[in-house]
Parts: sequence; structure tokens; C-alpha cells
Amino acid sequence: MTYQVILPAAGQGKRMRAGKNKLLLELNEMPVLIHTLKVFEGDEACTGIILATHPQDEEEFRALLKKYLITKVINLVPGGEERQHSIYNALKTIETNGIILVHDAARPFIRKGHIHRLTETAEETGAAIIGVPAKDTMKRVQDGAVVETVERSSLWAVQTPQAFRISLLKEAYEKAERDYFLGTDDSSLVERLNVPVTIVEGDYDNIKLTTPEDLYFAEAILKKREKEFC
Ligand code: CTP
Ligand code: MG
Repeated sequence: MTYQVILPAAGQGKRMRAGKNKLLLELNEMPVLIHTLKVFEGDEACTGIILATHPQDEEEFRALLKKYLITKVINLVPGGEERQHSIYNALKTIETNGIILVHDAARPFIRKGHIHRLTETAEETGAAIIGVPAKDTMKRVQDGAVVETVERSSLWAVQTPQAFRISLLKEAYEKAERDYFLGTDDSSLVERLNVPVTIVEGDYDNIKLTTPEDLYFAEAILKKREKEFC
């Protein structure tokens, strides 16, 4: 089992309101970007990392890769206007077959065990995503009023990584481009090909650092992990 991974890292982090790319914020004195990269750098099944980078961050990212001895980044590609465009720029540089993972650089707490389960599932089925069952009661709301309560047992909160056969993901991106379809994750592009996507249960720690409160959750998760490893 091996895979390559695309890490979209070319956002602006506007909702974090840090005045810079949130991936450069530090947790335990190390940038979020490096926390995420280290998971893949340390995974023997990962054969290469493609990093989508905003031109304004490129120099700093390159310096960080050097400083933290990250060797698996095979390509830095320019990001696009939307996350989907950043990923497509990265996907176009891949010429091999096999399994590709797409993982938000802003999710530093992904575990190797889950990456492996996801990759194995994608090898069998072609498309697999990670997520967790919804915990809250969910309601559909329109103009400030509840329309209905949605049956929770069938709802999952979906995360990254998402794993696909490379040929399948390329086909999905080509179709999305033709149709001007913009999705919020990669699976939604693959679903449009009417291909079944398998869901693998992950864990609630795999948060995406999005708004300032998420930094408090991140500190707590790091503390918990330190206890696990000692
Ligand atoms: N991303 C990207 N290219 C874009 C937009 C986002 O590569 N044009 C990346 C981000 O760097 C992040 C991931 O996609 O790792 C998930 O996006 P999100 O959490 O929305 O990050 P930002 O777009 O940076 O944040 P915001 O939407 O608050 O500006
Ligand atoms: Mg965004």
C-alpha cells in the first residue's frame, strides 16, 4: 500500500483573522503546516507530497521545508482562486497511477492509522472518504424558520483526507471543469460520476483549524496526544 498526497495550503485563512495564512500560526512552537507535513513525512506508505501554495507564501514555505527537514515534497504548485482550483493545479502534475489522497493542510491531527485504513479502502473501491457521525440534532432552516428535523442517523460530518484512484479523480475534475461545478470537497466531484464513495469512520480530533476558537481546541488535542505518547 502506497499513496501520494495533495495538500491544499494556498488559502488566505480569512476566518482565522490572523493577518496571514493560518498555516503559519504556531502550535507548540511549530507552524500548523509543519505539523501536517510531518504526519506524511513520517508515514512510510507516503511516496510524495504535492503542496499547493499561494505565491506570497512560497518563499516562507520553502524555508520551512528546509528548516524542518521535510524531504517528501516533490512539487510546489501555485494555488488557485478556490480550493478546488488549487487541487486541480496539483492533480495535473501527477503522471503516475495509483492512489491519491487530498488532505487539507489545516487539519494537523490526522492519524496514520486512519490514513492507512482510508488508502486500503480506496485501493479496493476506488473512492473513500473519512468522516464522523453527526453529534448534534440537525434541522433544515430557511429564512430563520425550521423547515424540518433531519434524521440524524444518516448524517455524517465529512473531513479529509479523501482518497481516490488517480484516474478517477482526474475524470471527476475534468467533468467539474466542463460543467463549471464548484464543490466544497473532492468527493462531491466524484459523486457526480455516479461512482460509489465509501465512508471510513475517523475521529472527532481531526478538526480543521478555521476560526480563532479552533486554536484552543488544537492546544487541548496536542496536550491529550502528549499524554498518549508518554
Ligand atoms: N486552500 C487552497 N486554495 C484556496 C483556498 C483554500 O489551497 N484557494 C486550502 C487552505 O490553505 C486549507 C484548505 O484548503 O488548507 C481548506 O480551506 P479553508 O479551511 O477554507 O482555508 P482558507 O481558505 O485558508 O480559510 P478561509 O476560507 O477562512 O479564508
Ligand atoms: Mg477557504
